[in-house]
Amino acid sequence: MKKALLIFTLMFTLVVLAACGQSNKDGANGEKSTEKKVLQMATSADFAPFESRDTSGKPVGFDIDLATAIADKLGYKLEIKDMKFDGLIGALQAKRVDMVLAGMSATEKRQKNVDFSTAYNHSGEMFITLKDSKVKSIDDLKGTTVGVQLGTIQEEGAKSLQKKVDFTIKPLDNATTLIQELLSKRIQVAYLDKSVASGYIKEQGLAGFDDPTTSSPGMAVAFPKGSDLKDDVNKALKELEENGKLQELKDKWLKDQQ
Ligand code: ARG
Repeated sequence: MKKALLIFTLMFTLVVLAACGQSNKDGANGEKSTEKKVLQMATSADFAPFESRDTSGKPVGFDIDLATAIADKLGYKLEIKDMKFDGLIGALQAKRVDMVLAGMSATEKRQKNVDFSTAYNHSGEMFITLKDSKVKSIDDLKGTTVGVQLGTIQEEGAKSLQKKVDFTIKPLDNATTLIQELLSKRIQVAYLDKSVASGYIKEQGLAGFDDPTTSSPGMAVAFPKGSDLKDDVNKALKELEENGKLQELKDKWLKDQQ
């Protein structure tokens, strides 16, 4: 008799536990519970119009709006971590974050260490200079100091260009610092994504020329290798493209930059 009671109690406990487990799952889907599961995104908020900080310090930009739209679609609450661009791939590899949106180009080299969504934007590269600069082509780079952001495709691109033209590379942590260095003449050239460079050219009255040497891959969302999230994000991206939301965000943030 005692044994029967014990078994009954055990079974009852199991049923209660299972029910609790169930309600947690509802939270994960963001349907029945108000507690949504958190999606941790990392970025490097030094890259307007894709990601920067507004006057109150809040991250804003195309990538931020896009990540918010994706998280909404998938029923997650988005949490943003700001770090150095150079540390983003490592953060994904260590699974400290679920995804990265940072105007990151989906290069083959990076694909060895992380997975990428389908591309959501394409941008070429540009060299920017002060308005009165004599540097107007790749050959003119000779003897100059060219600033690049650490860990970017521009850092790699500059290194391979160096084999043909003799110039100095100055790698910097932060993309915003590149412009300050240029304005204060500590570098003569900054090498950047075109959609970001053209914004600075307009805003700061700078000059520049397109990089004819690269055909960089599109920008995409990055995930830890093997992440299940990739398929969900690809589905969300497809829907956002089909319902016009992606275009709306491009019109809002990237229109003048194209
Ligand atoms: N598109 C370039 C790359 O993938 C630069 C990206 C820099 N992004 C940033 N948030 N600072 O290497």
